[in-house]
Amino acid sequence: MDLLDILGITEEKVESITILPGYNKLGEKENFETFTINAGEIISIVGPTGSGKSRLLGDIEWGAQADTPTKRTVLVNGKPMDSKKRFSPSSKLVAQLSQNMNFVMDLSVEEFINLHAESRLVENREEIVEKIFNKANELAGEKFKMSTPITSLSGGQSRALMIADTAILSSSPIVLIDEIENAGIDRKKALDLLVGHDKIVLMATHDPILALMGDKRIIIQNGGISKVMEISQDEKDILGELQKLDFVFQDMRNKLRYGEKLELIDM
Ligand SMILES: Nc1ncnc2c1ncn2[C@@H]1O[C@H](COP(=O)(O)OP(=O)(O)OP(=O)(O)O)[C@@H](O)[C@H]1O
Ligand SMILES: [Mg+2]
Repeated sequence: MDLLDILGITEEKVESITILPGYNKLGEKENFETFTINAGEIISIVGPTGSGKSRLLGDIEWGAQADTPTKRTVLVNGKPMDSKKRFSPSSKLVAQLSQNMNFVMDLSVEEFINLHAESRLVENREEIVEKIFNKANELAGEKFKMSTPITSLSGGQSRALMIADTAILSSSPIVLIDEIENAGIDRKKALDLLVGHDKIVLMATHDPILALMGDKRIIIQNGGISKVMEISQDEKDILGELQKLDFVFQDMRNKLRYGEKLELIDM
């Protein structure tokens, strides 16, 4: 028995996850038979505020077996998630970046990353800690220090730290992202960092650019999956245009942030 077995970590490769329909908030059955997501796919989740995007991510994280408010079932490699993985925080099948998070521990940034690296049994710990710290600061606006207490990080800085930490330390084959855009961090950089080779990525978003970056998108209405759509060629072209507009937008945001005055030539 090796160390991974003792810790309850099995190395079975995740090839796919499958969602079986549950019920929306009106008690109507969801309008699909099964939906399978394969390794390497990025799926965006869109829908109005309160429609149930975070709930869907929660169902996947939990490995729902008709035992959540939606009554959905989530299969991994065509089978229910085994109970050891479902309930063990060390199984690391799923890395979740949640919408609302607060640090409550009395630790510095350095101590926090070190502790996590230690728990993941990495060998070159110093190097990894340095790398996470640098990446987090690349994503955040105002820089923080190794000695900064994690409780005094801003909302955006905390998210940046968690994104860098998840991207570099976690080997989880399934990555769930809840609204990367609200944190004022560089969302494109953050997504590139998180989307690893062969991972399954699900991302709830209100941002059209992120929504169109997925291979497919799930539309949620009234708590239920109402449609699954593939990105069309037209949409890929539109994404290019949106990215150009976004560049202008970001540039103006930064000018305002750093106290510059906008002038008509900026348009
Ligand atoms: N099918 C369902 N049946 C019953 N309750 C549901 C269902 N889907 C979602 N809910 C509940 O509706 C509430 C809002 O859902 P959720 O937080 O997932 O919305 P959201 O789309 O993430 O919104 P936001 O864009 O504001 O983050 C939650 O309490 C959730 O548990
Ligand atoms: Mg949400």
